[in-house]
Amino acid sequence: MWILAHRGASKQAPENTQKAFRLAMAQQATGVEFDTYQVEDEIIVIHDRRLERTTDGHGQINNASLSYLRSLDAGDGEPIPFLTDALRCLPDNTICNVEIKSLYDIPRWLLALDAAVSQTGFNRDNLIVSSFNHRWLKRIHQLEPELKLGALTSSYPEEGVAFAKKLNAFSVHVSLDVVDEELVKMAKEEGLPILVFTVDNPEDMLTLQAWGVDGIFTNVPEQAVSLLGST
Ligand code: G3P
Ligand code: MG
Repeated sequence: MWILAHRGASKQAPENTQKAFRLAMAQQATGVEFDTYQVEDEIIVIHDRRLERTTDGHGQINNASLSYLRSLDAGDGEPIPFLTDALRCLPDNTICNVEIKSLYDIPRWLLALDAAVSQTGFNRDNLIVSSFNHRWLKRIHQLEPELKLGALTSSYPEEGVAFAKKLNAFSVHVSLDVVDEELVKMAKEEGLPILVFTVDNPEDMLTLQAWGVDGIFTNVPEQAVSLLGST
């Protein structure tokens, strides 16, 4: 089962920082997941739409300049990473799930993604782009059909995993709050890997493993690896 460090090893290091990504790799996670915003045609790594919770800055990401964002402390003296910084932390045999929280121009977003991948030499096949915004995923697939997509949902889809098939997604990413064995079965029947977020409790990890879930997102990759083993 894949063990993806959710915002990096975010229980032990500041979330969505290079420190958290490096720690996850040292702990033998299969890969990492992180959250992104498009700002001045760059892709930056942060979860919230506002700066207060995770940095010493103030205001909305979408109103901030790149230079202001780069001046901030995201915890333990770590900067808010650009996509390139994040990819540099990852050996290219690891999985990288880039979750899009916000973007304003899809072709320019794809140019920034391509630039970061070529600058770092990260293996494109190990990249999964996900979002709760399925309109963006649809458009991205039209423009770059080879890019792997993860269809995110926090609600139980009425028609099983049909929504993810329709999006030509590589995988379906479902909240722990709604997933059940039936949904896992439907994903398997459709040949879609199913990944579950966010799983920090050992009992939940074992239940999902028994159901045949393909991967979990966890804030505690070290514990997950010791319980489940890494693949
Ligand atoms: O990508 C899975 C998960 O990260 C989605 O929720 O809010 O933690 O980004 P959130
Ligand atoms: Mg996320």
